[in-house]
Amino acid sequence: MLFDLSPIGWRCLSEFCTLVSEFYPRNCNLSPIMLGFEMVRYLTGLQPTGVLHIGNYFGALRPAIELQEKGEAFYFIADYHALTTIHDQEALRANVRSVVIDSLACGLNPARACFFRQSDIPIVTELTWILSTITPMGLLERAHSYKDKLSRGIAALHGLFAYPVLMAADILLYESDIVPVGKDQKQHLEITRDIAVKLNDLYGPILKIPEPWIREEVATVVGLDGQKMSKSYRNTIEIFLEEKALQKKIMGIVTDSAPAEAPKDPTSSTIVSLYRLFVTTDELEKMEHDFRAGGTGYGDFKKRLFAIIWEYFAPMRKRRAELESDPGYVEQVLKNGAARAQEVAEKVIARVRKAIGLST
Ligand code: ADP
Ligand code: TRP
Repeated sequence: MLFDLSPIGWRCLSEFCTLVSEFYPRNCNLSPIMLGFEMVRYLTGLQPTGVLHIGNYFGALRPAIELQEKGEAFYFIADYHALTTIHDQEALRANVRSVVIDSLACGLNPARACFFRQSDIPIVTELTWILSTITPMGLLERAHSYKDKLSRGIAALHGLFAYPVLMAADILLYESDIVPVGKDQKQHLEITRDIAVKLNDLYGPILKIPEPWIREEVATVVGLDGQKMSKSYRNTIEIFLEEKALQKKIMGIVTDSAPAEAPKDPTSSTIVSLYRLFVTTDELEKMEHDFRAGGTGYGDFKKRLFAIIWEYFAPMRKRRAELESDPGYVEQVLKNGAARAQEVAEKVIARVRKAIGLST
């Protein structure tokens, strides 16, 4: 017997199960499903806009990997979306490949998550069109991300303007319950809900209304210059750099010019801010103590940071090398994911077509 639960209820129950599992003598990994509750579907898209950096890892990928254990995860590579900003076919192919391999190497588990390429399910573009016929222009004109992109010099093309409608179609086509995203995507989720409610008002309850899960608790990872780490600021630390290249990046972190002997402030240091992502509280306290004590130069602190980052990603580098040498496996993962996604998509689009009068 399965019980239905609201997405919020599911989240609370999942957290509760995690807590109980930690205290249970055999680390039982309790989940709401074991208690007889129906599975909640999480869906999120990863844009293949470049090589993954530490900000993407802690801000988006790692939370998604943690979630795949707590419900039914649908994760996809948003390559149709990437077309709004990348018009170089080789670059797009390379980016898709690297995001897929990096995600699998970091722990995205295709046995737990349905992992697919957005463009393998072209039905999503049909739903986009249907949704766009009821989407008010004003809703899209207010989108911050569109305005931000124009201010960064990206051409005002229709695809960029319609980006949120495609995103709504992604979410609604797979009957998502919960959509975990970064703060920057909050407005896109509101637009999705507005569009879904409008379609349901017009034609009846055919679309599931999703709940956003805005990752407020994920801190903004800082880049080499102390600003938010972002490809647009050219201050990123890519997670799969070669050893020498990674060393060089870390040694390039901007600091003040305090000499080795001087005590230093750990609270304003980019080195400490990055270090804390990788270490235990004790290790962090030791680093902060050494900063305050003086007698150690920034160069040495950077070496410590490099060592810890290199070690943290070592198992993932190993897994990545294995995946690189097995392209057949990677393609198979995407193929299996697409088959599962297609199943859900066909069911939903059939319901939509019928409701709006496109089929009998
Ligand atoms: P970039 O700013 O480098 O272009 P994206 O916008 O492609 O990165 O990031 C994809 C997702 O990764 C974002 O929605 C956000 O959740 C996460 N992310 C990116 N940069 C950071 C950061 N510096 N700190 C925390 N999360 C980040
Ligand atoms: N717009 C998202 C981003 O830039 C990527 C994305 C596309 C997405 N479709 C989605 C995220 C659907 C969540 C759900 O990060």
